[in-house]
Amino acid sequence: MASKLTNSHSSSQYGANPVKKDEIRLNEMGSEVVEGYTCKPKDYDPERAIMHYKTLLLLCDDERCGKAGKTDMASELREILKEMGLNKGENRIKVSRTGCYGTCRFRQVCQVTGNTQANGNTKNNALWLKNTHLFKEEKWREIFKLLSEDKTLREELDKEAFIPMKVYY
Ligand code: FES
Repeated sequence: MASKLTNSHSSSQYGANPVKKDEIRLNEMGSEVVEGYTCKPKDYDPERAIMHYKTLLLLCDDERCGKAGKTDMASELREILKEMGLNKGENRIKVSRTGCYGTCRFRQVCQVTGNTQANGNTKNNALWLKNTHLFKEEKWREIFKLLSEDKTLREELDKEAFIPMKVYY
């Protein structure tokens, strides 16, 4: 994964590019950001809608998967999405870290969730990717492009990328 990428999305004060004293910066929702943070809004509005996303990637960052990944994968993926213009808008892909899924043998695990309440592809819902810590940047870019184009991941990626699931009909 490219090391030149910097984290500019995390709400954590430990992000790589926090707002400095006297600097005024707006986050992706157009709110002024708190000093020391990278996207935490100054004005808290509990009624404000969350940003739309078409696809949610739930990346396990718990002990076993986190160690397998070695790097802060979520931050790196967010930077790639930003470069690709998929960090906002109707094709937005949101990346969130999760705790252990109990599927550590497939680590690092990433669940793909299509926002079927909105414009997500139903066939890209409830997919589980395995060994994502081995994915190169090019592979992630391919996945992001496929998702943004509403392609069905199971038809486009090698089946080895997926964790099999027992299904009842
Ligand atoms: S630590 Fe990721 S599935 Fe258990």
